[in-house]
Amino acid sequence: MPFTSGVIPYSPPDRVWPVRSIKRKANDVTGYPCPSFRWRSGVERSNRICLGRRDAMVIPNSFKIQYRTNSINMNDYVSLSERVISSEQSSTVRIADKVKKLKEQGKTVFDFSAGRAFEATPKYVMEGAIQAMRSGDTHQTMAKGTTRYREACAIKLKRENNIIADPETEITASMGCKQGLTASLLAILNPGDEVIVEDPCFVSYKQTIQYLGGRYVTVPLLRENGWRWKREQLEEAITEKTKAIIMCTPHNPTGVVHTQEDLEEVAYIAQKHNIFVITDEPYERAVWNGHHHINMATLPGMKDLSITLMSLTKSFSMGGWRIGFVYANEHVSRQLEKLQQHLITCVSSFVQAGGAIAFGQDPHDEVLEYWTEWEKKVRHFTTSLNEIEGLKCYMPEGGFYAWVDISELDISSERFANQLLEEENVAVIPGASFGQVGEDYIRITCVKSWDEINRGLEHIHGFVQGL
Ligand SMILES: Cc1ncc(COP(=O)(O)O)c(C=O)c1O
Repeated sequence: MPFTSGVIPYSPPDRVWPVRSIKRKANDVTGYPCPSFRWRSGVERSNRICLGRRDAMVIPNSFKIQYRTNSINMNDYVSLSERVISSEQSSTVRIADKVKKLKEQGKTVFDFSAGRAFEATPKYVMEGAIQAMRSGDTHQTMAKGTTRYREACAIKLKRENNIIADPETEITASMGCKQGLTASLLAILNPGDEVIVEDPCFVSYKQTIQYLGGRYVTVPLLRENGWRWKREQLEEAITEKTKAIIMCTPHNPTGVVHTQEDLEEVAYIAQKHNIFVITDEPYERAVWNGHHHINMATLPGMKDLSITLMSLTKSFSMGGWRIGFVYANEHVSRQLEKLQQHLITCVSSFVQAGGAIAFGQDPHDEVLEYWTEWEKKVRHFTTSLNEIEGLKCYMPEGGFYAWVDISELDISSERFANQLLEEENVAVIPGASFGQVGEDYIRITCVKSWDEINRGLEHIHGFVQGL
């Protein structure tokens, strides 16, 4: 019979799932909407749960879902990638997309889900890209990026990060940090290689590692350690298969800005075991309260072991442009160039023209004003949330998220987020999406309009009071 099948991750084998959860899982796993179904009592005793008109069935003991596809317009006999089927959706993008859909339907939603600032891209950067398009800069560029763009990235690294980079051999244009990460992992991983990631961590790290045939190993960031790793924790996680450590600073979602000492702990392990450290730094300019961003490559002995991911998504409110770069040693960069040739050909030409202006020039007043405003918003949001009984929240050192402790409320982060959206039209991200450690948290993006922030806060307050 024509079924497409996939593994449902993290499902205990002997659990009978409620219908709603099966429907959601079927949806997540197959990527197709689950057809209408009814619970068929008794069937689950034979270890099979049949859904509706036998359109789908879940076999808990094997962790498998079989999903009949003959009601769907696709070739019934082509099986899909297990790696992709078994992966989870990006909760941030999924929820942000859901909000977009609700807004298209005319609903008012207070959207604090994905990390997207309210402001538009600064005008002088837009002008640069428009001018480039008008002057015919609409053709493909070198795979590693235009000379002008890479030189601008090198100027930025020198000006802001104390790094002297060779734009010819050490910088590769990427479509943001995310695509830079995929290319970097492709450049270094062999099947079965392990990559250490933080828990909680950005939602795409684990899936990307799995897509590429690697294995992720989580090492918890503990609240009692200030959401920082201890050297011993990393040492314990290292095996002969360990190829890299991914760390994010300023950190999404906890808001920690890693200090020189934090980085030294990781650098010690990297040098001792000869492994890469990939630092994901889209929030590097969003640092508050006098905190200072430091790049791993500036530590003694770390230049050749570091792979730095930077982008304009957050700091310049340029998420839709999809632009960033990877700074890595010559050896890695050569592989990255080859990968970009095959994966994307190049980052869009006129996008690079705008990017060259953003990175190459000192930030104009327009951008500095954004950052000043963001700090005020983050402080206001986190202070106000902390005043709501049942919630605990602190001002982050960097980034623009409130990482809100909901442990007093006796509700899972997933349910909190779902209910808040359903009942109050407020979108947030459940902490569990970032890892096990996040189960008692929700993440809130603070950099929205003042009106949205204040009205959203009222709704959150009302919701928590009603729990
Ligand atoms: C930690 C982290 N890394 C990477 C990204 C993606 O960044 P980019 O838009 O530069 O790909 C995000 C947010 O979207 C993020 O929070």
